Amino acid sequence: MAAATKLLLADLASTVKQVPSNYIRPISDRPNLSDVLQASHVSIPLIDLQGLYGPNRSDILKQISLACQTDGFFQVKNHGISDAMINNMLSLAREFFQLPESERLKNYSDDPSKANRLSTSFNVRTEKVANWRDFLRLHCHPLEDHVPEWPSNPPSFRNDVADYCTSVRGLVLRLLVAISESLGLKKDHIDKTLSKHGQHMALNYYPPCPEPELTYGLPGHTDPNLITILLQDDVPGLQVLRNGKWIAVNPIPNTFIVNIGDQMQVISNDRYKSVLHRAVVNSNKERISIPTFYCPSPDALIGPAPELIGDEHPAVYRSFTYGEYFEKFWKRGLATECCLDMFKI
Ligand code: OGA
Ligand code: NI
Repeated sequence: MAAATKLLLADLASTVKQVPSNYIRPISDRPNLSDVLQASHVSIPLIDLQGLYGPNRSDILKQISLACQTDGFFQVKNHGISDAMINNMLSLAREFFQLPESERLKNYSDDPSKANRLSTSFNVRTEKVANWRDFLRLHCHPLEDHVPEWPSNPPSFRNDVADYCTSVRGLVLRLLVAISESLGLKKDHIDKTLSKHGQHMALNYYPPCPEPELTYGLPGHTDPNLITILLQDDVPGLQVLRNGKWIAVNPIPNTFIVNIGDQMQVISNDRYKSVLHRAVVNSNKERISIPTFYCPSPDALIGPAPELIGDEHPAVYRSFTYGEYFEKFWKRGLATECCLDMFKI
């Protein structure tokens, strides 16, 4: 069957009327889309960063702190990244995934240790069930080490995506100061913990799916990194777990979704939560999402901040290097039980 020989989902999805069997989840592990809370009033908090450097700073820090403790997720507006840059980033991603198959395949690899690559699903070498997604994964820090390995088509890709990365990094660094302060830590505590810092991104492409109830774009997982800044187009698909219920996070133009990753949960000694989330697909629209995964460099030693350990709050995690954590994460694959449990004391 010719279709089964396709490396990328985009080139297969448009040819099938049913979900191929290797994408079908067991009945106990399906999205149950009719059970998802759609109500916009229960969505995750929206935080306006406009006054972060004015008299409202302490109020904004309180909002951030509350969101990190309860939802592990929030949306930000007035984040300092222009609408034009956001729209251009989304257009470039769309253009990339619309390139002819042969052009896209120049970037293909299924080797997770390769920093810059186009692939599909999650980890095709190890997973049992595939996910309804193609993704271009890029390393973005320091930029000059990686940009020469990025796709050169569309022609403006390297230049414009590098600018986007620089802007998102600026936003992250502002948030890291705010989050350190919100935890009662020194302003530079998190910055210093990350050693040389790391920044990765994914351009996720979720093609329309003939039977969205049978599969996932990405199954429930927590992010293994420190903090994620997600840009999505106007097609819903992201869902976040709250009190055992999945909540749809419907896109608001020109906002970013920020979520706490596993490393922030460790540094905060469990005060801030790395929360399960997933991406579901739909039958009529393709969807693009662009997460920036900000992380420690592999040599960074991660552990609960000493100021957050005490008689009433014993250290929940042992210390480890981020390199060790990341390797365990990719080996296990996306599993609902969070990788963090392996590092508990
Ligand atoms: C991820 C992720 C959500 C989305 O890539 O880690 O959670 O909406 N993506 O694509
Ligand atoms: Ni995620």
